[in-house]
Amino acid sequence: MFPWPLRHLPGPHQEMFRHQKAVKGFIRQEIMRHKLGAPEAPKDFISCYLAQITKAMDDPVSTFNEENLIQVVIDLFLGGTDTTATTLRWALILMVQHRDVQERVQQELDEVLGAASAVCYEDRERLPYTCAVLHEVQRLSSVVTVGAVRQCVTSTRVCGYPMPKGTIILPNLASVLYDPECWETPRQFNPGHFLDKDGNFVVNEAFLPFSAGHRMCPGDQLARMELFLMFATLLRNFRLQLPEGSPRLKLEYIFGGTLQPQPQDICAVPRLGSPSPGPRAECL
Ligand code: HEM
Repeated sequence: MFPWPLRHLPGPHQEMFRHQKAVKGFIRQEIMRHKLGAPEAPKDFISCYLAQITKAMDDPVSTFNEENLIQVVIDLFLGGTDTTATTLRWALILMVQHRDVQERVQQELDEVLGAASAVCYEDRERLPYTCAVLHEVQRLSSVVTVGAVRQCVTSTRVCGYPMPKGTIILPNLASVLYDPECWETPRQFNPGHFLDKDGNFVVNEAFLPFSAGHRMCPGDQLARMELFLMFATLLRNFRLQLPEGSPRLKLEYIFGGTLQPQPQDICAVPRLGSPSPGPRAECL
């Protein structure tokens, strides 16, 4: 991914290479631990992948090998941690900014979940407003604003434009997430984008934070589940607000691969009678 001379030049990027080496070393150890373990039915990603390497051993064009396994595990961690955590941080900030929306979500959670000990993913069907808010957070925060860098493996045409083999493609997801033809108030936080006139949740086909097509995010279902359970559990249990005397929320993003909020303090004040310690384990 990086031009090879960078590896030999001094500079802060060397620290990144050191971390990369440490992560790879850790994953190698994990692979070794799996190989040394008792042979049994594959029960996790690494053991399934190792079984596939063995199965494809006689295939001369197979891409299943240990170096690729290490890279795929890195991809899963890279793709699956910062994205979800950053979206959740925006959700908390937007709830502080839009106090009325926060209160309406809490009211819906109280009414629908009542005394249930914890939130369950299936509950989303009965929580249209909460779902709309979370979708709007994802739309407006647009954390992966330019999708992953891709390259054409063969020459093709898109909407009549020629794309020669080797062309680098950067999908501009923000152009869809903020398209004035698809959203009533594209640059403003508006959960109404995902609600019909009766308050039912509605999907909008321009909602593409996970991109589209064959190479869309493979972790979208996991991300949606994580976000829903964490967001609903946090809002059910805490009132989010600025600390006393704090001047204002910082809403400008920092670009760090994803579009991230600036570091800032937010208070989570326990809500009276909040019932739950966390999501129900049996629902995960
Ligand atoms: C809010 C959370 C997330 C967002 C907004 C997001 C968004 C995206 C986007 C836009 C892409 C590029 C798709 C393309 O090129 O067309 C992508 C790729 C990817 N995502 Fe996610 N993602 C999220 C969570 C996750 C999670 C939880 C995982 C896995 C545990 C994950 C794993 C990946 C991987 C491995 C790729 C690269 C796929 C490939 O190269 O084919 N993502 N994601």
